[in-house]
Amino acid sequence: MSKTAAERPRSRSLKPLRALAPFLTPYRGTLVLALGALLVASGALLALPFAVRQLIDQGMAANDAATINRYFLGFLGAAIVFGLFAALRFYLVTWLGERVVADVRAAVYRRIIHMDMTFFEVTRTGEVLSRLTTDTTLVQSISGVGLSITLRSALNLVGGLVLMGATSAKLMGLIVLLIPVIMLPLFAVGRRVRKLSRESQDRVADSSSLAGETLNAMQTVQAFTLEALQSQRFSQSVEDGFATAVRRNRIRALLTAIGTMLVMGAITLVLWLGAHAVLSGEMTGGQLGQFLLYAGFVMSAAAALIEQWGEVQRAAGAMERLAELLEARSAIAAPASPAAFPVPSRGAIRFQDLRFHYPSRPDTAALDAFTLDIQPGETVAFVGPSGAGKSTTFQLALRFYDPQAGHILLDGVDIATADPVALRSRIGLVPQDTVLFGTSARENIRYGRPDASDAEIEAAARAAAADEFIRALPQGYDTFLGERGTRLSGGQRQRIAIARAILKDPPLLLLDEATSALDAESERLVQEALERLMATRTTLIIAHRLSTVLKANRIVVMDQGRIVATGTHAELLRSSPLYARLAQLQFADLAAPEGGLPG
Ligand SMILES: Nc1ncnc2c1ncn2[C@@H]1O[C@H](COP(=O)(O)OP(=O)(O)OP(=O)(O)O)[C@@H](O)[C@H]1O
Ligand SMILES: [Mg+2]
Repeated sequence: MSKTAAERPRSRSLKPLRALAPFLTPYRGTLVLALGALLVASGALLALPFAVRQLIDQGMAANDAATINRYFLGFLGAAIVFGLFAALRFYLVTWLGERVVADVRAAVYRRIIHMDMTFFEVTRTGEVLSRLTTDTTLVQSISGVGLSITLRSALNLVGGLVLMGATSAKLMGLIVLLIPVIMLPLFAVGRRVRKLSRESQDRVADSSSLAGETLNAMQTVQAFTLEALQSQRFSQSVEDGFATAVRRNRIRALLTAIGTMLVMGAITLVLWLGAHAVLSGEMTGGQLGQFLLYAGFVMSAAAALIEQWGEVQRAAGAMERLAELLEARSAIAAPASPAAFPVPSRGAIRFQDLRFHYPSRPDTAALDAFTLDIQPGETVAFVGPSGAGKSTTFQLALRFYDPQAGHILLDGVDIATADPVALRSRIGLVPQDTVLFGTSARENIRYGRPDASDAEIEAAARAAAADEFIRALPQGYDTFLGERGTRLSGGQRQRIAIARAILKDPPLLLLDEATSALDAESERLVQEALERLMATRTTLIIAHRLSTVLKANRIVVMDQGRIVATGTHAELLRSSPLYARLAQLQFADLAAPEGGLPG
């Protein structure tokens, strides 16, 4: 992840921020209100020096108590207006920032979750997560508070400069000459601050990815007694972050010192020249006071803008990365007018002359000349050595990838011409390693069919031999299963997955048999549940057990992406040496006493 952070492009231009525009348009009204509040607040602030001038020239000089009172009231009034509208501006703008970033986050997630598998092969999960969190946070800081500061400062800077010019053109000329002298060193140091801020952000990302990695593998860490080593690595990474932050803050302190001295020096110079101008009668005391106040506004606005500049640039870089995700389009999508599958589905599937290689392996075919016709209701078992392409057939049937040549037909419809959602809703998948979600047993089964009733869920659990153990859990069906379902045993997780598939009741079932041997009792329960599930539908099963292949209508032997033999167990034992060898080596239940070869 550290590499990713270092690679993060720092945009030269601010163009990527334009991608924010569509997220702002729904909130036009709020934006206009915020700008209105900004104008009123800045107007009130810029009116204050004018009141001060009148106070000095009309009131104090003329010794007129009534006038003094009147201008003090005016001053107070302007201060109240400023306070109220500044608060309103702050509230509206930060609201906008939060709102926009919440929308950007949701939009990015919505985009990613539809992406094809090739995208996830080239984009690391950590990368996507960091875009969703770190980059959106950067955008949030500029679209909220940052935007507020920038707009306010820009307005105060321009307004202050214009009013300074109106107050005293001569002193204004002097300031214009001084501005570059002040700005140049600030810009130079500011660049360095920006670089170090990014570095310290990257260090923070490093430590959190380190922590994340070990927290996800706690059992490995403790089993290998790596606690001390990992703690030390983590402390080291935190120390790196600390050191970078200290370096950044040192430079920042220097920036503050230089900035303050330059600004104060400039003001002193102007004040000195101004005082002499008052002495020689060129300007009034009130004018000088007014001018100095504007000068103060302008200087602080300029300082704020310098500081914001770095933030805006970082946000532009972050937005560029987010825009990449927002513009990503899945290569696997429904055509403009998708072909419809027949209703009700028969469950016939045909693989026709498939040739396929994974995008990252253009030179090795994972499937080649693969043709297989499967009748409705048939159970077909795939066997073959590791890497033969068994799982790949499932990936293509689910259309996670498109083959380079050939077609897959479900109920006679080419799946490439259909909507992938319609296709996948007809397929049930029971994977080798069941993935459960961090929620209750009930909700985990409900993933099979989100609109299922509680009674249907329990019926599915009974059919999957899961009802009994679920009821024995502390809160029954409402028991939280832990992150990724860690609070269940392997066999229990499998039965939940089977219950899901039963609930979904798909015409086509893809079953990747678990390799890990369960104890005899859970094995029997899982087998019974699977048999019930397979009985009424077309089933493709990647088999690791003799008992499974014996029940299949047909066994397909695969090697290096090709079908090398098909037949029943007894036929293949005679005709296929590869199968005979695999049967010896691979079938988990072959060694068991009740197993054994028939015939
Ligand atoms: N995402 C991927 N990217 C690139 N190559 C892949 C990918 N997935 C699988 N492969 C390769 O494709 C070939 C077929 O893999 P597949 O997963 O279909 O094998 P398998 O028969 O299921 O093996 P196993 O019994 O070990 O699960 C292998 O050589 C594998 O290395
Ligand atoms: Mg596999």
